[in-house]
Amino acid sequence: MSGTILLADDEEKILKTLGRALRDEGFDVVTTPKATEVSRLLAERAFDLLVIDFLMPEKTGLDVIRELAAAIPESERPAVVMMTAHGSVESAVEAMKLGARDYLQKPFDVDELLVVARRAVEDQRTRSGLRYLINERDVEFNHYGIIGTSRPVRELLARAERVAESKSTVLLTGETGTGKELVARAIHAKSAQRHMPLIKVNCAAIPETLLESELFGHTRGAFTGALASKRGRFALADGGTIFLDEIATISAAVQAKLLRVLQDRAFEPLGAERTQQVDVRVIAATNRDLRLLVADGKFQEDLYYRLNVIPITLPPLRDRREDVPLLVDHFVRRFAESLGKRIDGVDPAVVVELQRYDWPGNVRELENTIERAVVLATGHVLTRDTVWLMGALAPSASPGLPSLGLHENVEWAERETIRRALDRANGVKKDAAELMGISQRALSHYLLKYKDSL
Ligand SMILES: Nc1ncnc2c1ncn2[C@@H]1O[C@H](COP(=O)(O)OP(=O)(O)OP(=O)(O)O)[C@@H](O)[C@H]1O
Ligand SMILES: [Mg+2]
Repeated sequence: MSGTILLADDEEKILKTLGRALRDEGFDVVTTPKATEVSRLLAERAFDLLVIDFLMPEKTGLDVIRELAAAIPESERPAVVMMTAHGSVESAVEAMKLGARDYLQKPFDVDELLVVARRAVEDQRTRSGLRYLINERDVEFNHYGIIGTSRPVRELLARAERVAESKSTVLLTGETGTGKELVARAIHAKSAQRHMPLIKVNCAAIPETLLESELFGHTRGAFTGALASKRGRFALADGGTIFLDEIATISAAVQAKLLRVLQDRAFEPLGAERTQQVDVRVIAATNRDLRLLVADGKFQEDLYYRLNVIPITLPPLRDRREDVPLLVDHFVRRFAESLGKRIDGVDPAVVVELQRYDWPGNVRELENTIERAVVLATGHVLTRDTVWLMGALAPSASPGLPSLGLHENVEWAERETIRRALDRANGVKKDAAELMGISQRALSHYLLKYKDSL
């Protein structure tokens, strides 16, 4: 059998005997009498198995295992088997707790070692094989951290990639937590300007009175309190990308100035006489329907069209439930690693529930749910008692509302009603309209309105 083994024991005689036996078996064996050499040897090449003696002069085998556990991530550590003397069961137990696979009590039969070594190496190989597959899958589907293989996600990725090559303005829309910011970052990272800055402005988080100067800068004395001149975010983003998040919330004054930048790539800082030119790509995002705001006279129509050059709509998670298991997997691994916990997976029944749930908070809610579960987990598998969902679970129960935004909730209710009515009517529009108590014409209007999200 092939496999690489590092054998550490301070007794040269034991090293020789065991080393030979393992080599005869076909293993590639490196031996060392010094506990202090172990980490260096492990750093030099990959071993499938470390067989280490507990009692060694410089430090104990247990110390070495402890150091390894701290220094090397579990997925890259070799399997460990500890040899203990005189029935010192406690240290053996301690070693197992630290992740050792097995222990051998001296004196042991060489055959016993061979059996243990064979099993450990085989196991290790299977595990790294699995790991390899998992990584491959990650590379294939992990585009800048955007997880998903459903059709809407694949279309989204294809579109984002094409857009990245241009400098066109992008408008990202979608419910809260669907990944708008993630996609904005991906577009920048994929663009020719990726080495230039990506400047994010959360328009909703900056008080209306400050937003203008924040975006365009000001000169000294431009307004009370402007003690020094300040460069705005547009100037900072010059040559790169500016990400205007929550764009629906900006005031009429800022809307006008923004329109000017989009038209002429020029603006004046507050209080400045001179016009400044900028070369930036604009990516805007909102979870509101800008068309409705335009209709209400709250958002400038010209600006809407200037922003909406390349529209990208992010699908809500409940419309791509097939991605839920992948996302669960992704977040479990991420949080287990960052919290230093070993989590092997999620109870399949829980995954089914997660897939059925409506996710009003979309991927962000899923992410938080998994983080909480990993924090609370006591075993190696996430079970129902650690996975708490905010809304009701059964698909027939009333799902939560997507947000506190009235428009968003109303639209969501409209979409849900239409979806369910169409479902019930087996897709026959006339029947669905009747079920909803609206005319067929009205239904056509809604279908057009929600054609991208139904
Ligand atoms: N497809 C995805 N794969 C992996 N992680 C995702 C995906 N979509 C969203 N996320 C994660 O979910 C969280 C929310 O995403 P993001 O901040 O981009 O949402 P958003 O659409 O900007 O929401 P909001 O409108 O509330 O600002 C982030 O932590 C993000 O990394
Ligand atoms: Mg966001």
